[in-house]
Amino acid sequence: MAEMKIPYSRVLCDGNELAYVREVLESGWLTTASKTLEFEKKFGAAVGARHACAVNSGTAALHLALEAIGVGPGSKVFVPAMTFTASAEVIRYLNADPVFLDVEYGTSLLTTEILEEAVRRFPEVKTVVVVHYGGQAAAMTVEKGAGILDVCRRKGIRVVEDAAHAFPSRRGGRLVGTFGDVTCFSFYANKTITTAEGGMLVTADDRVAARAKVMRLHGIDRDIWNRYVSDKPSWEYDVVAPGFKYNLPDVSAAIGLAQLERAEALRKGRERCARYYMEALAGIPGLDLPKLQVGFEDHAWHLFPVVLTPKAPLSRDRCVERLADRGIGASVHYKPLYRMTYYRERYGLNPADYPNSERIWNGCLSLPIYPDLRLEELAYICRSLKEILSARGGEEAV
Ligand SMILES: Cc1ncc(COP(=O)(O)O)c(C=O)c1O
Repeated sequence: MAEMKIPYSRVLCDGNELAYVREVLESGWLTTASKTLEFEKKFGAAVGARHACAVNSGTAALHLALEAIGVGPGSKVFVPAMTFTASAEVIRYLNADPVFLDVEYGTSLLTTEILEEAVRRFPEVKTVVVVHYGGQAAAMTVEKGAGILDVCRRKGIRVVEDAAHAFPSRRGGRLVGTFGDVTCFSFYANKTITTAEGGMLVTADDRVAARAKVMRLHGIDRDIWNRYVSDKPSWEYDVVAPGFKYNLPDVSAAIGLAQLERAEALRKGRERCARYYMEALAGIPGLDLPKLQVGFEDHAWHLFPVVLTPKAPLSRDRCVERLADRGIGASVHYKPLYRMTYYRERYGLNPADYPNSERIWNGCLSLPIYPDLRLEELAYICRSLKEILSARGGEEAV
């Protein structure tokens, strides 16, 4: 029997979630209406974005973002290989093609150098999806020299940010949501704030926002909420495009509003875990800790990924099993997309072209990180990992 049972992920809904959901249920109107509008307004204000468009998933936000900036058949889009399939599948929704890029070892982020090299090799690519892996913002702007945004502006490349992990995240004093052409957040259940399922597209571009708002609801030219509060009869609307069904219901927005109120407190709770891990796990042979390019306080800490190096006495898979034996849930972020059958076969991809992603993939595992992870639990996880990675623990495991 394991001494403790620590799941990989645990959702915390101990604020106003119940009260706000109750309000919605008692209002008699469950789907998109005033709570969703309020959530858009407050979330947009929280990241300093001009427009916010709530949708029913982060994937939907990414799809709408790419559609709104004009990605279509024949377009090619840069996307890091070390991400969830949603970042790339949305490119295929539009009959465009992903061009997978390697990432930096230690951060799993795209860098200016990686992007510059890719632009030299594929000058025809005019869009990039930047993933803020784990909650650390990529180098969109830097104090000295060129950041990712500088390269993109110079080359006329449009920037969609996949900020599924990155609320709230800062880089150089700026919040993620204020950098690229469009930024997409996810509120899936395990994310830094949740609506169970949900997402948000934010942008400073009036045209992109207007297009996304029409396309999220069947291509109808009036928001559904307008249809029910305005003086015009509700049946009087036009369809201007074959849109999608991506609106966020008020029940979900109600959860989001309560989560948003505590977003910084929740982030601080995860930061506490990250600080603990960084100190307790430093210097263990065979274990690489995540590389920080921003302050602890600027990181959303959605993930705490570590990498077992070839010096470790056991494989990543064995290590995850040993942790599970001790009641500790761990996960892997990610099996790179060039290793997934669909992308590998369609684009003839070869792992050898992605040396950093391969190094990460071979040893990466993510440890539990959530606001109410207790000190005893953190201590137990660190003690267990040290024992598993000690030579004796390793021998025992092989
Ligand atoms: C990097 C990344 N992008 C996009 C998504 C998609 O978000 P959603 O599940 O809300 O559609 C996820 C979700 O896990 C993700 O991790």
